[in-house]
Amino acid sequence: MNAVLSEPPRTPTLEVQESRDFKSYHAFLRAARNYMEGPLVAAMYSQYEAAAGPPAAARDRQTAENTMDGLLTFQLYSWAFRNLQRFKYHRPDLGIFAAVQAQRDRLLTQLDETAASAPAAELRLNPALEVPAYFQYVPFHQHTGGVTHDELDGICYEIGRRTTVPSHMDPNGIYHLLFNTLPTNKTYHRVLDWGTGHGGALITWQRLHPESECHGVDLSAPCLKLAHQRAREQGLHIYLSQQDLEHLDYADNSFDLIFFNFMLHELPPANTPALLREAYRVLKPGGLFAGHEFNLRPGDAFQNVLQRSHAWLNNETYSVPWYETPLGEIARETGFKQVRIEPFERLNRSVLRPGKADVNANYWDLYQLEK
Ligand SMILES: C[S@@+](CC[C@H](N)C(=O)[O-])C[C@H]1O[C@@H](n2cnc3c(N)ncnc32)[C@H](O)[C@@H]1O
Repeated sequence: MNAVLSEPPRTPTLEVQESRDFKSYHAFLRAARNYMEGPLVAAMYSQYEAAAGPPAAARDRQTAENTMDGLLTFQLYSWAFRNLQRFKYHRPDLGIFAAVQAQRDRLLTQLDETAASAPAAELRLNPALEVPAYFQYVPFHQHTGGVTHDELDGICYEIGRRTTVPSHMDPNGIYHLLFNTLPTNKTYHRVLDWGTGHGGALITWQRLHPESECHGVDLSAPCLKLAHQRAREQGLHIYLSQQDLEHLDYADNSFDLIFFNFMLHELPPANTPALLREAYRVLKPGGLFAGHEFNLRPGDAFQNVLQRSHAWLNNETYSVPWYETPLGEIARETGFKQVRIEPFERLNRSVLRPGKADVNANYWDLYQLEK
């Protein structure tokens, strides 16, 4: 299948107009977040070491939490994490919701026109889809109401992610890092982006691999419409579909590769076995289920306290139980014949490492499960 269109011409870009004040306010929020994730974490680590006494990493988590609760730097970090994200979305004049709302009619008209011109297979929306209760109203990342309710939620999410991915990177850089970890001795004819959201990963893949047939699934119609819009702007045909990952309508053995980004910590552990079974079913024998996810760094109580704090600082409802989920065991029980779970070194090395300490605000593992 030819993924790159020469005719008809590319769809015009859907652009949220950003005022001078909007740009400068969000640049300030970005800079403040860089400070919070960088020098502030370094200062916190020094204070923590002074208060806890070395070796800091050997402390148990509860003791570390008690120590950190008393540090001014941790209090400031917590305030900054909660509020920078809140200001970003919610500030009544310069927040993302307000800026997008002010341009609502134009943005919706363009999104709808592009969606209406989509060949049926490229944008399969299902208004009757029952969104699982665990996802329906949870305001992940402080995105009020979640990403499935307002027709412009996709575009709000796309703008919001600019300042939440690792601080120094282009928002799609993390996808390149993930794709670079995949074995090069396999062929990836049909691929599925598991929870595609705004479609950034899938579009990145399609551009790198024009020969692949690219599919993306998500619960959120607004996100899928935006992903479709972005693909058409680049002259790409990708296949987007509104489905629950637990109940996919693809035939058994459909995909050579299923990839995922920022997904496991957003899913309740009670659903993980069913979700993995469904991914396994639609993978071809020898196919890969591969992605990255935040995790606790073994034996590093300081990092563990910071990583867990993101749950309540940023409404990550399922992330703490996710850290306790034995994904490797569940994968083996599901039938995956090779289960590789390891630190995502390339990504962990690339994020800011403030000061001399081997610390940062986030830590990732890499997952490669082969059917
Ligand atoms: C944190 S976002 C990640 C989006 C994207 N992978 C990225 O790289 O930014 C999680 C996405 O998973 C979707 N999602 C969550 N549970 C789902 C489910 N059961 N079925 C389909 N999509 C789901 C959400 O709608 C959301 O777009």
